[in-house]
Amino acid sequence: MPTTSTTTGSLLTALCPELRAALTRVGYDADNLLEVLGADVHAALGRSEPVPVRRMARTAGELGTLIRLLLLGDALPEGDVAAALAPVRIDRAIAAGLLERDGDLVRAALDLRPLDAGAGTRWILSDLDDSMRRRTLTEEHVLGVGHASLSLLRATPTRPVGSVLDLGTGCGVQAVHAASYANQVTATDVNPRALWLAEATAALNGLDIELVEGSWFEPVAGRRFDQVVANPPFVVGPARIEHTYRDSGLALDGASELVIGQAADLLAPGGTAAMLAAWVHVDGEDWRHRVSSWLPTDGVDAWVVQRDVADPALYVGTWLRDAGLDPRDPAAQARAEQWLDAFTAADVDGIGFGFVYLRAIDGPTELLAEDLTHGFDDPLGDEASRYFERSAWLRAVARDEKLAWTSRFVVDPATALERVALPGPDGWTERVARLHRGDGPRWQHEVDETTISLLAGMRADGLPLYELIELLAVAYGSDEVTTEFAADALAVVAGLVQHGLVRPV
Ligand SMILES: C[S@@+](CC[C@H](N)C(=O)[O-])C[C@H]1O[C@@H](n2cnc3c(N)ncnc32)[C@H](O)[C@@H]1O
Repeated sequence: MPTTSTTTGSLLTALCPELRAALTRVGYDADNLLEVLGADVHAALGRSEPVPVRRMARTAGELGTLIRLLLLGDALPEGDVAAALAPVRIDRAIAAGLLERDGDLVRAALDLRPLDAGAGTRWILSDLDDSMRRRTLTEEHVLGVGHASLSLLRATPTRPVGSVLDLGTGCGVQAVHAASYANQVTATDVNPRALWLAEATAALNGLDIELVEGSWFEPVAGRRFDQVVANPPFVVGPARIEHTYRDSGLALDGASELVIGQAADLLAPGGTAAMLAAWVHVDGEDWRHRVSSWLPTDGVDAWVVQRDVADPALYVGTWLRDAGLDPRDPAAQARAEQWLDAFTAADVDGIGFGFVYLRAIDGPTELLAEDLTHGFDDPLGDEASRYFERSAWLRAVARDEKLAWTSRFVVDPATALERVALPGPDGWTERVARLHRGDGPRWQHEVDETTISLLAGMRADGLPLYELIELLAVAYGSDEVTTEFAADALAVVAGLVQHGLVRPV
């Protein structure tokens, strides 16, 4: 059971039923924002350019008032705000910390925005950032819905589950999303201000989310969840905390090591974890070994997807700007020096980041860590679920090869074969043949003619794999299948199954 439950029952939470009524009445939702602003002005909002948004919002009635108040942070006449937020009373909203006075005017003291992550509009309360107005972020700043939050939302499996743990919930965005596919959601954070906001976010959406204060997994020690999601403070740097939302206080990639190393203990049998993480690339060391060394030796199937690698200078500059610092300022330069010194001292020549998926299994830990640095549009969440199904099948084959030999396979309908030819002295010369997956992570595999022939023979009602390779051996002039030929064929098929280009029927 939770050690410290922080259902504060704050004034802000108490305000939420009326606030919800106001937002619903005015139609403050993701679709209406796009409709009222139009695609171009909506894009300006994303680029932190308030003027085009303000010009459009001025003629958009009460919805325009809420856009100016809550998204731009404008100070507005009290009467306009009272009308747009009715039945919320302005004095109660000020006492609750949602609004504040600015002379004769009223402005938002919090960020409140709609988000549709696939299950309809949800409203997310967080601290105001500096996207529309210059401000310095405090150590306790509670992040709103940022790029990382959105990328984890899209990368989280959403098949129905019993229980979900959201580690480091911040404003509660992952927890609120989880409530659309889980029966019960628990969210933790070390920052009481985050829990204050997450509680209100839950109430605003009419959701019942268990909130527990504490560091890392300590507040839920001994408990088990069907799914764990985490967008932890994984920023890689010297061991210090300037902003709780991004700094763990652990040196380099210590936060990712801790979360990846301990998450499996929280998983119920067959449970899944979906997390963002970062790892340093150290001169002379393979990043895959580093991540692999963080996993327990037993009980985990891990899929680690590296989305990008930043060089140290780019990384430091990006995070300085993220915290509202100008890399040209002397103070920011001193910080950049310290940060880059810490990287140099640890031989860091790059910072990799991406998604880490874990599945609780019986047996020794397995890991596939791979680059997925090319572009793709489909959300990765469902792919992760499928990855683990395919991985379970491959484990069964590793225990008993006969399963593969007696199985029939089909080429996935989204798989295409591409032959690339280049001009040579004797005309076009084929150089390479590739299989492409046209959906999900859009994997590509180079293949040889033998594999192309093998795939051509795959049918749901056709021959099992062993009979197919017997025919292939004959076609290639041999009257029997050698052990080496069989092993090569199985390795190729396993690789294609792992990436979903081919599947057992
Ligand atoms: C990057 S923010 C993620 C917020 C939110 N889950 C999201 O996806 O946008 C990381 C969160 O972890 C919290 N955090 C920092 N250190 C922590 C710790 N030691 N234990 C638990 N949470 C922590 C921060 O307060 C912050 O809310």
